[in-house]
Amino acid sequence: MAIGIFDSGLGGLTVLDAVARAMPAMSFVYLGDNAHAPYGVRTAEDIFDLTCAGVERLWAEGCDLVVLACNTASAAALRRMQESWVPEDKRVLGVFVPLIEALTERQWGDNSPPREVAIKHVALFATPATVASRAFQRELAFRAVGVDVEAQPCGGVVDAIEEGDEMLAETLVRAHVEALKRRMPHPQAAVLGCTHYPLLQETFQEALGPEVRMYSQADLVAASLADYLERHPEFIGSGTTTRLLTTGSPERVSVKATQFFRRGVVFEAA
Ligand code: DGL
Repeated sequence: MAIGIFDSGLGGLTVLDAVARAMPAMSFVYLGDNAHAPYGVRTAEDIFDLTCAGVERLWAEGCDLVVLACNTASAAALRRMQESWVPEDKRVLGVFVPLIEALTERQWGDNSPPREVAIKHVALFATPATVASRAFQRELAFRAVGVDVEAQPCGGVVDAIEEGDEMLAETLVRAHVEALKRRMPHPQAAVLGCTHYPLLQETFQEALGPEVRMYSQADLVAASLADYLERHPEFIGSGTTTRLLTTGSPERVSVKATQFFRRGVVFEAA
């Protein structure tokens, strides 16, 4: 048994890196649905169907616990999956809650009523589908009051990353930051609400300015997964190897991943 990590494409590798660093003895199977990326411009119905298919593929690999390392899938599909689709002996977790707990200074499982928190102005950068779902604002409202969220749908950024076009991705990030700053000139914190975006974290930080605190999910999700496995050791597998699967062309996806991560990354066909 291994832990499954799912994303529409390459972005979830930022989460896989962090969880593998936090739990080096653990075995993971990563599935990138590169054949269908980007998800961020698809309908919620489409995202639900594709995410369920990806999770079933990981279950077939023996991954009873799957982490959706994709905000778009977490925002548009996870709740419906958990309510009506995931069988009792399996678990599917998302990436939103650990991030929002960090932003609202909460420990895991602190379900006390929403309260005032230090951060009042948050810039959210995410895919169009994640922004449209308002899942981030909904989860935030359960935990905090008085936080002003300005969301920027970052069209084109995931496509540029999947195509390996770093220059276009950086240009688009600067344009999206400018657009957001016209509506919220002084955000205190910025949330990179798409697992592809940490690959461009420096560009986001440069465009936002050094005073803006950046929240990105990889390390937060890793800490939260380690905590979850301590409470649910039945999901810890016995394997030690990690495999990377893609629904796209393994050669092409390996080349793009190697380019962005600046180390050899080898995918196999899913
Ligand atoms: N990494 C996915 C996310 O976190 C990208 C979604 C997409 O494919 O557009 O939202």
